[in-house]
Amino acid sequence: MLQWLTADEPRSGVELANRLGISRAALWKRIEHLRRAGVPVSATHGLGYRLAWPLDLLDANALTRAAEKAGWRVELHADIDSTNRRLASVADGHRRAVLTEHQHGGQGRRGRHWHSPLAGGVYLSWGFRFECGLSRLGPLSLVAGVTVAEVLSQRYPIQVGLKWPNDLVVEERKLGGILVELVGAADGPCLAIIGIGINLRLPESHWPDQPWTDLHRLGMDRVDRTELACRLIEALDRNCSRFEAAGFEPFAAAWSKRDVLEGRLVQVQGAGAQILRGLACGVEASGALQLDCAGRRLEVVAGEVSVRGC
Ligand code: BTN
Repeated sequence: MLQWLTADEPRSGVELANRLGISRAALWKRIEHLRRAGVPVSATHGLGYRLAWPLDLLDANALTRAAEKAGWRVELHADIDSTNRRLASVADGHRRAVLTEHQHGGQGRRGRHWHSPLAGGVYLSWGFRFECGLSRLGPLSLVAGVTVAEVLSQRYPIQVGLKWPNDLVVEERKLGGILVELVGAADGPCLAIIGIGINLRLPESHWPDQPWTDLHRLGMDRVDRTELACRLIEALDRNCSRFEAAGFEPFAAAWSKRDVLEGRLVQVQGAGAQILRGLACGVEASGALQLDCAGRRLEVVAGEVSVRGC
């Protein structure tokens, strides 16, 4: 059905229903189902249905070839609840990537839902086993942020900033997010699941309720999702090894260069009701945000930051 809808000319409801061997009412239900999944099906009165813009589906062969060449593993899904959840359920997640065209239960930070319309973004989880134990992985989500921001800024003419701990922002709007989950022991081997969501082109039905952007709005008309996914995986693989060997130090300058909070008055909402207000002063080697609260230095290890007055 997607292929028929991709045609240059709209397809009439009668033609589509006949091809599928279903009634017009059943066809309408399918169209609504596709729209709920984020497929941009437009209808023109008297002419029929077509896609409002072409969808770039992931290329399974190209991903497999890249994986075989570099020695990582990849699995590709058409629809899944969450790539992070899927990766957490496999027996050996080390150097494994899980990708999907669509997520119906995409997870964001702090229990939020991550909008994942079909082919409207990159939804990727990368697994890496660290021998050093959970206690040393505090800055890993910052390393992941630096990695993704660098890949995007190298590939496209955009300046990607980082909002602690790891929001990817362009012009104060969220382009993507990262959800790192750790499974294992405090001082033994553990698996890090690095979940990355990047907005490519969000249909109106999937617009988030916070300032957001996507690559299309930023001027990138045609994004090759397969190529972008391969670049991200390769960079994550490289930087996870580097982080394991040398810690956060090699990434600190890159973080600071992209830090959109440093020098700004912010407020931080922690797990409880308490709100901290202060001047953002960069990050610690531990990954914590440094806050100057009326001359008192505080380290924030978790929370939601907003710029004061915004
Ligand atoms: C955030 O809230 O900023 C983090 C969003 C992370 C979304 C990605 S999409 C791929 C992976 N699978 C998920 O369920 N979540 C992450």
